[in-house]
Amino acid sequence: MTQGEIAIFQEKILSWYRENKRDLPWRSTKDPYKILVSEVMSQQTQISRVIPKYEAWLQRFPDFQSLARAPLSEVLMYWSGLGYNRRALNLQKAAQVIVQDGRDEFPTSVAELMKLPGVGEYTASAVACFAHGAQIPVIDTNIRKVITSEFFNGVMPDEKIIGSTAQEILPKGKAKDWNQALMDYSSLVLKSVKIPIAKQSHFRSSDRWYRGQIIMLLLDVKVISLSGLLDYFSDKNPIDQERLEAILLKLSKDDLIIYEDRTASMRQ
Ligand code: ADE
Repeated sequence: MTQGEIAIFQEKILSWYRENKRDLPWRSTKDPYKILVSEVMSQQTQISRVIPKYEAWLQRFPDFQSLARAPLSEVLMYWSGLGYNRRALNLQKAAQVIVQDGRDEFPTSVAELMKLPGVGEYTASAVACFAHGAQIPVIDTNIRKVITSEFFNGVMPDEKIIGSTAQEILPKGKAKDWNQALMDYSSLVLKSVKIPIAKQSHFRSSDRWYRGQIIMLLLDVKVISLSGLLDYFSDKNPIDQERLEAILLKLSKDDLIIYEDRTASMRQ
């Protein structure tokens, strides 16, 4: 791709966005709490279904403090209809971590954000960019689709290539509009374009890759549940439960970790 081609593409997307941007309630705020809620709700759920849930949620839980101390039953009630209750649970846990830490400063870097329960690379980048103005690509399914269809003839390259392309086409100083423009363009203009499922690099889809990730994670957190691991991988490199358990059992058999009661821990 030449600089000229990149500039033409940027102008195409940004001018389309000026005319067609969706008026989404979380686009008019920089409050990291609201951005986090909107992004967690939007994962695997249609935006039209998210909007009323988002509004009701903020009425009841306007900030981290109110969410942190709410009864779980009520949190789940306000989440109902969005699916994947674990996301709600993690959102509340994240609120509790922030409140307990006595921070009024919300973490701002992607690495710090990723330490929060249920926050993977996508969500962390979205919050860093939309709330804190980080000049970084935010890569979700929509954005993978635009990149694939514009630059790779509809054949999805591996995640590393998606990442370097997203970085290359990012217009300096405009990351927030840019990332949301790509999301809207993808879901409105490329709606009917079909992209074959992501082609993973050979290594990233291997057991060996997951084994390495699990060990690294355990060195940091010491103990994690099976569901915690599923969450951890969910927006990084999703894996199904059966396969993950097989990998954990094998790691345990190899004496690298302990895996008992659906919980993995570091060997002392
Ligand atoms: N999907 C997830 N987050 C989104 C956002 N901020 N804008 C549009 N679509 C989205």
